[in-house]
Amino acid sequence: MDKLLVHGNGPLKGSINISGSKNASLPILAATLLSDQPSIIRRVPDVSDTNYMLQILRALGAEVERSSGTVRSAPSEISPEAPYDLVRKMRASICVMGPLLTRVGRAKISLPGGCVIGDRPVDLHIKAMQGLGAKVDMEAGDIVLSAPEGLVGGEIDMRGKHGPTVLGTDNLMMAAVLAQGTTVIDSAACEPEVVDLADFLVKMGARISGAGTRRIVIEGVDSLNGVEHTIIPDRIEAGTFMVAGAMAGQGVTLKRVRADHLAAATSTLQEAGHIVQFNSDGNEVHISPGETPRGCDISTGPFPGFPTDMQAQFTAMFATTPGLSVVEDTIFPQRFMHCSEMKRMGADIKVDNGRALIRGVSSLSAAPVMASDLRASAALVLAALRAHGTTEINRLYHIDRGYENIDEKILQLGGNVERVPD
Ligand code: EPZ
Repeated sequence: MDKLLVHGNGPLKGSINISGSKNASLPILAATLLSDQPSIIRRVPDVSDTNYMLQILRALGAEVERSSGTVRSAPSEISPEAPYDLVRKMRASICVMGPLLTRVGRAKISLPGGCVIGDRPVDLHIKAMQGLGAKVDMEAGDIVLSAPEGLVGGEIDMRGKHGPTVLGTDNLMMAAVLAQGTTVIDSAACEPEVVDLADFLVKMGARISGAGTRRIVIEGVDSLNGVEHTIIPDRIEAGTFMVAGAMAGQGVTLKRVRADHLAAATSTLQEAGHIVQFNSDGNEVHISPGETPRGCDISTGPFPGFPTDMQAQFTAMFATTPGLSVVEDTIFPQRFMHCSEMKRMGADIKVDNGRALIRGVSSLSAAPVMASDLRASAALVLAALRAHGTTEINRLYHIDRGYENIDEKILQLGGNVERVPD
């Protein structure tokens, strides 16, 4: 287990490349299971979550090679059982369910356990598979699905209590591409990662229309081909470094981004008084702190709304922004673990009923803090970059799940961080 020492208050300046998206890579790697031919996926970030997914693919029988960001997955023959030891490490392993069920007619996956960002049920994933005619049983903590005669298309609504489900939409889309007939997904998630998966599936030979809207229509086909695909840029990594540029920057440029994926983060930074400028292609962004930053209110929502995965990072920014800010998370109302750690650094935050009330303080001070989940850890790094003194962030493995070389990227921007063994 490593920890990160962040020597705060040094300005960030310069440019870095944003990595490929973790949350697009995970379902796309799972989707390689849909063909018996090899696929090549580029710009897969080298983070522990993608490495867990590669281990799961191998355990299912695929031959998998990784060379830097390029992954070759050759699943000529696969078994339907995802091993508990690997599945329990990552909730996103649920997205092998659709590919296994539709390709092999059977799938056995451990029920994902609890999660620090709140209750994360899988009822919509199960409803989706049942909607295509699968039989679903629970056996000793495993979900066992079967469709010996194959899946049959249907019309399925994927809206849950907190809005549409991203991986649920992915799972249903992956199962439906090889089902008989037409599937209509109502209240589908519109996230860019869903669109990237649909683009990958269409390259493989799937017939999908409407990805990126609330209604996706899929005409099942008999088989799919192996293909090559490049993952979209990670909009959450980009958003995190945009906040870093606003909080502790003196002119930070991020390359390999997509302006159309960053609209909510961009408008909130601008509303808070910071300067965000994209180049004409929309693939590079320059951020510098405004002279009179001000607090504002955000409420998370499904894309194109403000992403829950950026909530913690903006909370860190508002902790040192003058005025009162209110941050509400409607998707994961319990996702505020970072606030108690930031309070140890001097932040003035009250969390109540899915909302954080933040009164900006003039400065934060270093303290030993504990990372609790991926985005909470990123928020602590941001707070530490603005704090006086050296902050020690423990349990760095949380951040290594989803940020590729975060310490090296901060060093590249002139920040002063050290990764040390615990
Ligand atoms: C994806 O998780 C992301 N993970 C999460 O990012 C992200 O926070 C989340 O979408 C929301 O944007 C990946 O893409 C790998 P959901 P997912 O199903 O798909 C409820 C990160 O930090 N729900 O869209 O699992 C659920 O409880 C991670 O990178 C049900 O009620 O999330 C939540 O309130 C963390 N029943 C809402 O839907 C279900 O069966 C949206 O969750 C499934 C979900």
